[in-house]
Amino acid sequence: MSNKCLIREVGNHIGQEVTIGCWVHNKRSSGKIQFLQLRDGTGFIQGVMVKAEVEEEIWLTSKELTQESSLYVTGIVREEERSRSGFELTLTGVKVIHLTKDYPITPKEHGVDFLMDNRHLWMRAPRQRAVLVIRNEIIKAVQQFFDEKGFTKVDAPILTPSSCEGTTELFHTKYFEEDAFLSQSGQLYMEAAAMALGRVYSFGPTFRAEKSKTRRHLIEFWMIEPEMAFVEHEESLEIQEQFISHIVQSVLKNCQKELKFLKRDMSKLEHITGDFPRITYDDAIQFLQDNDFDIKWGEDFGAPHETAIAEHYDKPVFITHYPTELKSFYMKPDPERPEVVLCADLIAPEGYGEIIGGSQRIDDVELMEQRFTEHNLSDEAYKWYMELRTYGSVPHSGFGLGLERTVAWICGLEHVRETIPFPRLLYRMYP
Ligand code: 4AD
Ligand code: MG
Repeated sequence: MSNKCLIREVGNHIGQEVTIGCWVHNKRSSGKIQFLQLRDGTGFIQGVMVKAEVEEEIWLTSKELTQESSLYVTGIVREEERSRSGFELTLTGVKVIHLTKDYPITPKEHGVDFLMDNRHLWMRAPRQRAVLVIRNEIIKAVQQFFDEKGFTKVDAPILTPSSCEGTTELFHTKYFEEDAFLSQSGQLYMEAAAMALGRVYSFGPTFRAEKSKTRRHLIEFWMIEPEMAFVEHEESLEIQEQFISHIVQSVLKNCQKELKFLKRDMSKLEHITGDFPRITYDDAIQFLQDNDFDIKWGEDFGAPHETAIAEHYDKPVFITHYPTELKSFYMKPDPERPEVVLCADLIAPEGYGEIIGGSQRIDDVELMEQRFTEHNLSDEAYKWYMELRTYGSVPHSGFGLGLERTVAWICGLEHVRETIPFPRLLYRMYP
């Protein structure tokens, strides 16, 4: 096959004849010229076929092509300023691999349910491709950040005998004769790993059997969970700022085309660097009360509260020192005020909500034992976790970044359902 290449590489072949395996995204014709919008997953390019310049058979074959038919095209690469890709193909040959009939997703508008039922095909749409490319860039930026900072990636188990974030949202299953759960968080295992490797992170799927049908909740989502020995609350917040800034700046640098395609207002992302604002839970409650919200100290924030707070800042904002009662069993109380914990949720701007939850962890074995009793957690399943506090316990902190909410924010998407290839939602496990 002459000079086979990918659409993303055509710039290296200007003036040459190349062959590209691709699909017909769209087409139009003016009688003497056919314009084929072609895609191969790595990019889009327009193929132009002039009737007078090709054999009749090629012209007729091309005329029969339908949306999403697959083919090999041969053509000469030309620079073309007016096209989005900067290039165009003057077509010399077309070899049909598979002629598609009645592709269900046409260029007209479709409802969300229809698109979700056809997610396996909807992924081919340029907008969905752009989101998945940005998701991949975020994953790369995560790995790069932690590699440069001396973290080791450690994989946490998915099948677990215990819960991390409360027992109400656990997916139950059987592990032969025993009860088991799908992991809600790799954190407890990362705490063990941090005592072995110093600075670690896990990056894997997590599961929440949460009856929430909001634009921010998935049943299965991916979480990045760093855990750091000898790092206290304040230092953890500094690392989170650097981490989020690095991710946003990497996407801005490497995904200009995709962000433009999504019509993302990039000015809202450009200044996501440096320090992030902080507000204590106490001040956040006061602020909400001053703005006519009906909320009392001790109550948790919902999406409208988070949005009201976030609207005051043009960067992500940390809400710190939540009431101990509201948060998970492992969070370390503030030594000066044990009714609040050394924790922070990071709230993204523009109403995207909480993207990070994190805290310093309890490192005292007696206090941890007390918490286990208060939270009705069985000693058996957590015996190993307690032992981390009896053998060389050190102050340590960690946090969890939700990948899909981060993708939604950076891409500027209404709903997390478009941020993951195959979303698992409250009423949807298909396809
Ligand atoms: O605040 P969460 O529940 O924290 C933990 O799981 C900690 N164990 C993390 C840690 O300290 N290692 O979840 C962390 C983040 C949230 O801020 C959010 O971004 C995301 O995970 N998240 C969800 N994303 C999509 N759908 C859901 N149902 C989510 N639940 C949490
Ligand atoms: Mg949280």
